[in-house]
Amino acid sequence: MGSCFSARVKAESLPCNGVNIKHAGRSGNDRSGSSSKVSSSTVPSTPRTQGEILQSSNLKSFPFNELKAATRNFRPDSVLGEGGFGCVFKGWIDEHSLTAARPGTGIVIAVKRLNQESLQGHQEWLAEINYLGQLYHPNLVKLIGYCLEDDHRLLVYEFMPKGSLENHLFRRASYFQPLSWNLRMKVALGAAEGLAYLHSDKAKVIYRDFKASNILLDSSYGAKLSDFGLAKDGPTGSKSHVSTRVMGTHGYAAPEYMATGHLTAKSDVYSFGVVLLEMLSGRRAIDKNRPSKEQHLVEWARPYLSSKRRIFQVMDARIQGQYSSSDALKAANLAIQCLSAEPRYRPNMEEVVKALEQLHNSNNNDGSRGSRGENPRRVHRSSSNGPTYHRKNEVSNGKPASYAGPCVSPLRT
Ligand SMILES: Nc1ncnc2c1ncn2[C@@H]1O[C@H](COP(=O)(O)OP(=O)(O)OP(=O)(O)O)[C@@H](O)[C@H]1O
Ligand SMILES: [Mg+2]
Repeated sequence: MGSCFSARVKAESLPCNGVNIKHAGRSGNDRSGSSSKVSSSTVPSTPRTQGEILQSSNLKSFPFNELKAATRNFRPDSVLGEGGFGCVFKGWIDEHSLTAARPGTGIVIAVKRLNQESLQGHQEWLAEINYLGQLYHPNLVKLIGYCLEDDHRLLVYEFMPKGSLENHLFRRASYFQPLSWNLRMKVALGAAEGLAYLHSDKAKVIYRDFKASNILLDSSYGAKLSDFGLAKDGPTGSKSHVSTRVMGTHGYAAPEYMATGHLTAKSDVYSFGVVLLEMLSGRRAIDKNRPSKEQHLVEWARPYLSSKRRIFQVMDARIQGQYSSSDALKAANLAIQCLSAEPRYRPNMEEVVKALEQLHNSNNNDGSRGSRGENPRRVHRSSSNGPTYHRKNEVSNGKPASYAGPCVSPLRT
């Protein structure tokens, strides 16, 4: 978290294989690595001005001093995490007046503060307000308000007590116990419902940055999507895709999108498949600390996933015994479908939701609900595939890295 309190520099625009890959370094005890951002030549335009977006949003406009007071002057010990945008602080506000409250009173909020040196941050900040100011769903994080004052750009969210899925899957701290199979299925279902809503006719939005760190968890592990800085309106009329700068997170972004900049809802489905695979395996999408053949999760796991005998070599050893072999195969099969190289062979998110509902119900109907323990009917695997803890990886020679934070915000076109 150290970088929250010192200047953090983003290196911009390193040309690479015809695209610009950007890195945002991170440092600190628990988070280190880089983000990579890729851009091509098409710059999206927005039909709405900043004033229109802010006025129409129904969000509270907070004075900077109010958020300073709510977070006790952005106290270091109230940092919840750090992303490419900046640090996120815990704070308290009165639920009626929305003014700063004493810690432990009123409602808890998460305040995301944009690094002032961030070049792309303003557009991400505005895109977040644009989308979360209009979209409401139980599986999307609630944006309460924002602050725009001098150079200050902040976002105020509902506080998500269990933090991000990324922390639960990959963090070393002892208070992050491995998520059980049941909770993984619950989180997968909730996140899938959030994406299905975004893709539905009610919203028609492509999320574009689906990854474990953007899935936040409430006190009962309900999943909510956060970070709409890269979200994009879906294609309209007879168009099959939207053309965009290629942005997102290496390791999660769909290959055809990386190659062409053509964005469809199926790009999100691919990213969902990557996260599902992370949940099944307990491995990061990209892990440079592993042997070279295992660094790219999808490439490494693909041959195992399609083999009934070998699938269990992919499964996270920390949850062995918690699921039936048939459920593991179904979940792996769903991941394979989402990760199809051809977008048209990927299911849509409604279909993914249905498949996950069955998996979730199947496991809950056999009396094992909430169990983290052993079940005699469940599969055990002998090979070791323990937790992995590592740095986030950097982009190198155009190869995917584990993380690329939000990039230039595509506003409504
Ligand atoms: N509403 C929230 N409630 C609780 N914790 C939060 C909330 N929003 C963010 N966090 C914490 O702060 C961390 C950083 O979030 P942030 O979205 O800034 O970065 P990120 O998702 O890790 O990376 P990126 O910059 O790519 O989005 C999250 O991983 C999470 O642990
Ligand atoms: Mg995020």
